[in-house]
Amino acid sequence: MLIIRELDELRALLGDRRRNGQRIGFVPTMGNLHAGHYSLIDRARQCSDFVVASIFVNPTQFGVNEDFSRYPRTPEQDALGLGENGCDLLFLPDVETVYPLGQDRAVRVHVPELGDILEGASRPGHFDGVATVVARLFNMVQPDSAVFGSKDYQQLHVIRRMTLDLRFPVEIIAAPIIREASGLAMSSRNQYLEPDQREQAAVICATLRWMAGQVDGAVQSITEIEAAAMQRLADAGFEPDYAVIREAHDLAQPFAARNGGAVMLIAARLGRVRLIDNLEWERSNTVPDTH
Ligand code: PAJ
Repeated sequence: MLIIRELDELRALLGDRRRNGQRIGFVPTMGNLHAGHYSLIDRARQCSDFVVASIFVNPTQFGVNEDFSRYPRTPEQDALGLGENGCDLLFLPDVETVYPLGQDRAVRVHVPELGDILEGASRPGHFDGVATVVARLFNMVQPDSAVFGSKDYQQLHVIRRMTLDLRFPVEIIAAPIIREASGLAMSSRNQYLEPDQREQAAVICATLRWMAGQVDGAVQSITEIEAAAMQRLADAGFEPDYAVIREAHDLAQPFAARNGGAVMLIAARLGRVRLIDNLEWERSNTVPDTH
């Protein structure tokens, strides 16, 4: 696997590949990679001839009190894992390459509405940072397709909308959530959990499944289910930010149709670790009974 840090070198190499008719697949990450990330590489392989991953811990998507400085950085281990998992090129830009004018003078991308609710409301400016860095990476890599995990469901939708509205000729592909045996969605932040908290964290996924079961049962209203889910999380020792049921295609709308697709989304703090997870639901789904 090639490792490239400089933009000129990246452009020259990918230009050659493109002229040879190769399709470029792209997987942007912030590193500290796990099986969830590697599943995206696998997905990119299926629809491209040359797979590029990037590792860049993007400062503009972290709030002032968030974990930018202590975000885990493991580039050597990540490079080995990417090579073993079929990645062709790792792009490892430094902050001056991504933000040549500096962060304060950087041109920014804002995705209204979708970027301002849920995670956007809990973490003001977060999705501006995400949209801004992904737009820059798309311009640098110029991929044919890019793969994002459904784990970050709202992020996936924000990026889809940005891609559509800025008319990037990039196909956005969604990959399923990779979970641990307990149901806990894999995340770089899970390593901050103590062993007992890790067990406790599985309650998030169980609550999502419970919510889906309640929607299926159609006895309680959506508002009642959401309130009960918040209570379940609080009873299990979490500080929940939200537990909501939304239209899957448009996260802004409370789920009302009861016949289309819905998505349940949870964000909750366990000690100092903030976890997010979601579950897509369709009327015909059989939801595993967890209680
Ligand atoms: P990061 O958190 O490193 O995640 C990179 C990609 O991996 C995202 O598309 C995310 O949804 C996906 N991912 C993480 N955990 C996953 C899991 N358990 N199953 C499936 N996919 C998973 O998301 C970011 O980085 C950044 O915001 C980024 C898009 C790179 C912009 O900086």
